[in-house]
Amino acid sequence: MRRVVAAMQLAQQSPARITQAFALATDVATRGGTFDPSASLFHSKQYRIVDQLGEGGMGTVYQAYDPMLERNVAIKVLKPGLPSALRHRFLAEARHGARLAHPHLARVYDLGIELDTGLDWFAMEFLQGRDLETLLQRARLRRLRLPTTLVGIVFDHVLDAMQHAHDAGLVHRDVKPANIFVSRRPGHDLVSAKLLDFGVALDRRRDRDNTDICGDPRYVAPEQILGEPNINHRADIYAAGISLFEALAGWHPMETVIGQGTQALIQAHCEGELPPLSAALPRHWSATMRARLEDVVRIACAKEASRRFDSATAMRKALKQALRPETC
Ligand SMILES: Nc1ncnc2c1ncn2[C@@H]1O[C@H](COP(=O)(O)OP(=O)(O)O)[C@@H](O)[C@H]1O
Ligand SMILES: [Mg+2]
Repeated sequence: MRRVVAAMQLAQQSPARITQAFALATDVATRGGTFDPSASLFHSKQYRIVDQLGEGGMGTVYQAYDPMLERNVAIKVLKPGLPSALRHRFLAEARHGARLAHPHLARVYDLGIELDTGLDWFAMEFLQGRDLETLLQRARLRRLRLPTTLVGIVFDHVLDAMQHAHDAGLVHRDVKPANIFVSRRPGHDLVSAKLLDFGVALDRRRDRDNTDICGDPRYVAPEQILGEPNINHRADIYAAGISLFEALAGWHPMETVIGQGTQALIQAHCEGELPPLSAALPRHWSATMRARLEDVVRIACAKEASRRFDSATAMRKALKQALRPETC
């Protein structure tokens, strides 16, 4: 145990001594020793970076390999030089991911600091597939629409994950196709979706300052884009509604406004009417199904938060009902 303590001290003294500390710890592991349960455990692990998977405002996501557990992981590394408030959000994102256990949320395994650069990182479940934004862009390039069954499954999963986060007191605040990851289940035709990126999530049980304006202006609810206090889970329901419109129609409901800048988008969210979704859906779908889908999006995207679905589960049920085969 003395060797373990020595290894911990070495690692703390200087990042450059981590190799020496690692060697010491490995030496202890191979030789064996007396375990003292009252001491803390020193742990050292090297992830091998394999490939870059994506990049957003706060971090870069890499595929990496964990040689100890012999599995792939995804590692998100915080970008250098960001203000400390963003670092706190990043750490909170990792902790939310570790706390939430749900089949449609990516599980966070580990959080650490890279010793040479001092950059924060966290390791999470590695997902294979594509985010919904990429799928939508590809379909559009080929003048295709995403299969309705796929859209139904994806939003069923995402709304289920949203409900789980809401029950834990979190408001995601950045629900959009780029943060929805779609994987094919191994050996299945079926897809599975996960809601990613709790980087700007609001923890209603902890965060006192919740008026900061964040999220993607293409998807944010009026009360969120205006920085109103006490926004709640209904802001995510609005963003899910806009995303659902886009996934079903193949184009964003405020498409014509997007090129005109953020101010025009704010106005569209706060005052504009959504185009009728039913008119954007294929003519051969039954009128009932088109009308029901339009209702789901209209209720989810009501300007006044209190007029939206009162929970993600309620929206999920309404969507399931709208897509029921007998209504086709
Ligand atoms: N666990 C994961 N497995 C595979 N790819 C991922 C994973 N997490 C994120 N990505 C990819 O990286 C992109 C950016 O990740 P995200 O968490 O949204 O970062 P940011 O906060 O920078 O937007 C995602 O759109 C997705 O394509
Ligand atoms: Mg993102």
